Amino acid sequence: MARILTGITSNNIPHLGNILGAVIPAIELSKDPKNESFLFIADLHALISSKNPASIIENTKAVAATWLAFGFDTKKNMFYRQSRVAEVTELTWYLNCFTPYPMLANAHSFKDKSDRLSDVNSGLFTYPVLMAADIILYDANKVPVGKDQIQHLEMTRDIATAFNNKIAPLFVIPEAMIDERVMIVPGTDGQKMSKSYGNFINIFLPEKDLKKVVMGILTDSTPLEAPKNPDTCNAFKLYQLLASKEQTETMRQNYLKGGYGYGHAKTALFELILDKYSEPRKIFTELMSHPTKLEEELSIGEAKAKKMALEKLAAVRKALGYA
Ligand code: ADP
Ligand code: TRP
Repeated sequence: MARILTGITSNNIPHLGNILGAVIPAIELSKDPKNESFLFIADLHALISSKNPASIIENTKAVAATWLAFGFDTKKNMFYRQSRVAEVTELTWYLNCFTPYPMLANAHSFKDKSDRLSDVNSGLFTYPVLMAADIILYDANKVPVGKDQIQHLEMTRDIATAFNNKIAPLFVIPEAMIDERVMIVPGTDGQKMSKSYGNFINIFLPEKDLKKVVMGILTDSTPLEAPKNPDTCNAFKLYQLLASKEQTETMRQNYLKGGYGYGHAKTALFELILDKYSEPRKIFTELMSHPTKLEEELSIGEAKAKKMALEKLAAVRKALGYA
């Protein structure tokens, strides 16, 4: 049995790129009977960049609602908000004292972000230590992450090993599970879809707003009558990610033979999103307007997570001389 754990920073409403690139693959992994999945909303990590309580609340709700809308099974797996098991912050402090300063100072992600951001706070600096605590608090052995997080996993292993060697062997040393699939969902402007580029598609928008976003996909000025190259067109690329083989082939032929405008392709994409995601859209809207349901789902996992965290911390405190 592998204990798989992953965190999702709640700094936006999940977009189509997040859903296809992260949510759906993680849910697939969690369905394997050999796995036990811990999935949590990294709302404490979100504070590094967001200082707006209303958006902390909104994004946390939206992330939770997205995972439930796409069928994450909260009975089989663990589902919780990081902030509701605040023991993780106590563990972070202990781990901070086992973390060499240069290791954090040399982290790629810190160096990159501290060059770009105006708010370079200590949370950004110690972010990998909180991440290490997230993982080792629950004895996770596998952590699915994107390539950008490999270094953070290495740090987790180093910090846990330092504690195990210096104090007591209390922590499982986790391994990264690197997702080799290179699915990069393009945004409405053709670059990688990202919250930071403002080119994302929020599939949960009301129909009218969603249509506006999809119709706004950037295309070239080839006239309607002319044949078009599907493989260089953003609307086609997005359609292809969602459509069946037959649907894709039909659209490809339409592009090649001409007399088929980009407007037609975008309308087809819009309709496909509505059709394919009608169930998740319904569940998401329902959960967002009934937060008590969300609260109920989360509190089950949070009670279980709290119990595990307290047990682990009791051992850590004792080992460190605090109990
Ligand atoms: P953003 O770039 O919008 O800030 P994040 O960096 O928070 O997104 O990514 C959260 C998760 O979603 C990560 O696992 C990441 O790999 C995945 N993801 C984000 N954007 C895309 C994309 N355009 N295509 C595929 N996966 C993506
Ligand atoms: N740092 C991760 C990201 O930005 C989110 C995260 C926080 C995480 N804690 C974690 C991922 C623990 C895996 C395990 O994507």
